[in-house]
Amino acid sequence: MTSPAPVERPEREIRTTAPVKLWFCPNEALAPAIAAVLASRWLDEQEQETAGRFLFDRDRRQYLVAHALVRRVLALESGIPEAEAVLWRSSRGRPFLRKPVEGLPRGGRELDFNLSHAGGYNLLGVVRRHRIGVDVERLDRDGRGFDSIVESFAPEEIAWVAAAAPGRARDRRILRLWTLKEAYAKARGLGLGLSFDSFAFTLAEDKGVLAFRPPDDEPPGRWRFAELEPEPDVLVAVTVMTGSDEQVVLDLHHGFPWSRDAPRREPLPPSVGAP
Ligand SMILES: CC(C)(COP(=O)(O)OP(=O)(O)OC[C@H]1O[C@@H](n2cnc3c(N)ncnc32)[C@H](O)[C@@H]1OP(=O)(O)O)[C@@H](O)C(=O)NCCC(=O)NCCS
Repeated sequence: MTSPAPVERPEREIRTTAPVKLWFCPNEALAPAIAAVLASRWLDEQEQETAGRFLFDRDRRQYLVAHALVRRVLALESGIPEAEAVLWRSSRGRPFLRKPVEGLPRGGRELDFNLSHAGGYNLLGVVRRHRIGVDVERLDRDGRGFDSIVESFAPEEIAWVAAAAPGRARDRRILRLWTLKEAYAKARGLGLGLSFDSFAFTLAEDKGVLAFRPPDDEPPGRWRFAELEPEPDVLVAVTVMTGSDEQVVLDLHHGFPWSRDAPRREPLPPSVGAP
């Protein structure tokens, strides 16, 4: 009797996983009157109260669009209607979706999200497992606060910034590092409570993370990082924790999610080691 031919298997099984989803939504995507109506129907008491405290209409508008976006996307992803989602915050202010005991109506048991809003742009990231952190910043900040930002960086990052010509080239380096650092700190739920000189990125000239030195309390290689520029001079950073053997794609949606338009898809870069 002949034995069956051996089945060829890769040394390690490569698993595919749910996409990392990003929604990039400029304030203009939602007319102020519509944002106000949606907010009055969807936002909870605490969100309404926060919205009422802004001194400037511009800031209130940003908040309303951001929080309408959160509730709309969470409804699409989880199946929990916009006004019924219960959002709670950790002691450091990180919001989470409260999962009903019977589980989420749609898309599996787990869901993590993170929001960033700045200068008329809103960015929401959603993953079905593990953790995500996102940050969006505009490059044309008139140099506001760039010096104090750099002072908070790790020495090797400060040196990399200083090696660029003053002006646009240097500002871009600063903001690339800043968005990545914020995204990582937000994924961990620590925000600015994490000392920004306790970890460091080594970046490629144009785009992409080459190496990551984590803070002392984390091993290297745990996180994946992506840099995007959904509009010229609007920088986005994403940090996701996923298994190292998983193939993951990143879906970028543009605008307010009224419909299920196809996103722009790209691979999420693999995790990087320490320098
Ligand atoms: C999180 C933080 C870095 C945000 O920075 P930012 O650049 O001003 O803001 P972004 O637009 O990128 O992100 C703001 C959003 O991040 C989310 N967020 C808030 N705290 C967060 C945290 N600790 N981790 C992750 N995400 C957080 C919120 O959704 C927030 O928007 P919202 O308040 O409208 O819901 C900063 O607010 C921070 O460090 N907060 C923590 C403060 C803290 O440690 N408090 C302890 C209790 S006293």
